[in-house]
Amino acid sequence: MKVPFTYGKLVHEDDFTNRVHEFRRLVSNFKSSINTILISPRRWGKSSLVLKAVKQVTKESKDIIICIIDLQNIRTEEQFYKLLATKVLQASSSRMDTIMDNARSFLGRFIPNLSFSPDPGTDLKLSLDWIEVKKDPDDILNLANRIAHKTKKNIVICIDEFQNITEFEDPLGFQKKLRSHWQLHQKVSYCLYGSKRHMLMEVFSSPSMPFYKFGDIIFLEKIKEKDWVGFIQKRFKETGKEIEVKNASAIAKHCENHPYYVQQLSQQVWLRTTKHCESETIQKAFEDIIMQLSMLFQLLTDDLSTKQINFLRAVTNNEEQVTSQDVLKEYNLGTSANVVKIKRTLHDREIIDIIGKKVEFMDPLYKYWLREYYFD
Ligand SMILES: Nc1ncnc2c1ncn2[C@@H]1O[C@H](COP(=O)(O)OP(=O)(O)OP(=O)(O)O)[C@@H](O)[C@H]1O
Ligand SMILES: [Mg+2]
Repeated sequence: MKVPFTYGKLVHEDDFTNRVHEFRRLVSNFKSSINTILISPRRWGKSSLVLKAVKQVTKESKDIIICIIDLQNIRTEEQFYKLLATKVLQASSSRMDTIMDNARSFLGRFIPNLSFSPDPGTDLKLSLDWIEVKKDPDDILNLANRIAHKTKKNIVICIDEFQNITEFEDPLGFQKKLRSHWQLHQKVSYCLYGSKRHMLMEVFSSPSMPFYKFGDIIFLEKIKEKDWVGFIQKRFKETGKEIEVKNASAIAKHCENHPYYVQQLSQQVWLRTTKHCESETIQKAFEDIIMQLSMLFQLLTDDLSTKQINFLRAVTNNEEQVTSQDVLKEYNLGTSANVVKIKRTLHDREIIDIIGKKVEFMDPLYKYWLREYYFD
């Protein structure tokens, strides 16, 4: 029997729950050629949501081409251009001769060479004179718009892990280049998504930045406890097992509604349940997951400075005024300027999230581990 809970992979169909409004908004933006920026901490469901919207639009609109680009392994501008050109060409047609035609007509001056691996559906390999491309990437940045005009279709380009562009050599110069081209594109819209809220907020909402007011910004929220309860109960029921509301709700609570962990814990609980889920099973499964992760958490913590760890201790104790003199002293945090620095570093390393004045752990299980196993 297929296990009814999935984590660590993109979820779709029956494994996907909720997100009704965000889904509609994405679909509508894609169809209306509105740029979208989608931001959430890691593993809250950005990629799955975009993919679901992409599938819907592909099914409904034959005159929209969608191209998905993942910047996960992209560290330089050159790699970016290469990936963009390859993916746009690949999305432009399913026919090799048309793709070749497009490459020659729009990228001809870089002397393109294309090859496919023999298996159908696998990646296209594009070689261009990348040194020339980097000097003058206009043709690559405009490629999608030209193809859109030629095919008389609109194109939506979805770029995952967009925060990676801030690691390029000259991020600001690069953003200026992108924006100056992309804002002229009439038939291409962009869906840019990723984690590192602060970084992306800076890119998209500082008036001094090139991408200011580029599009509709969506902050993805966690899925609510009541929605998880419905989902967990349904998945148990469909597979001939039962779980009471209070237990399904305990699963969501243990994971603070974090989508990845709720799925992981649900799966572990489901696997240990023959017919009817007992409350003890949840605690046991949860502790097992914590144990599996403890090595990772230990390594993560070993890498932090004493003051950073002290700061995390203050956060696990729900101290609200971390910069008050009492708290600074009690946790040995140094000056309040020091705390600002600690916060920035921990945020950049995606250990904490800062929403207004509130500091939260990105990983609720790391918080639990620190509190129960490390500080105790
Ligand atoms: N709508 C959803 N319904 C059910 N589970 C979900 C949903 N969205 C996310 N999840 C759970 O969270 C996990 C992570 O989802 P996904 O990879 O889409 O998130 P992400 O925000 O793109 O993550 P990353 O920041 O690592 O790229 C999934 O494997 C799944 O277990
Ligand atoms: Mg993702």
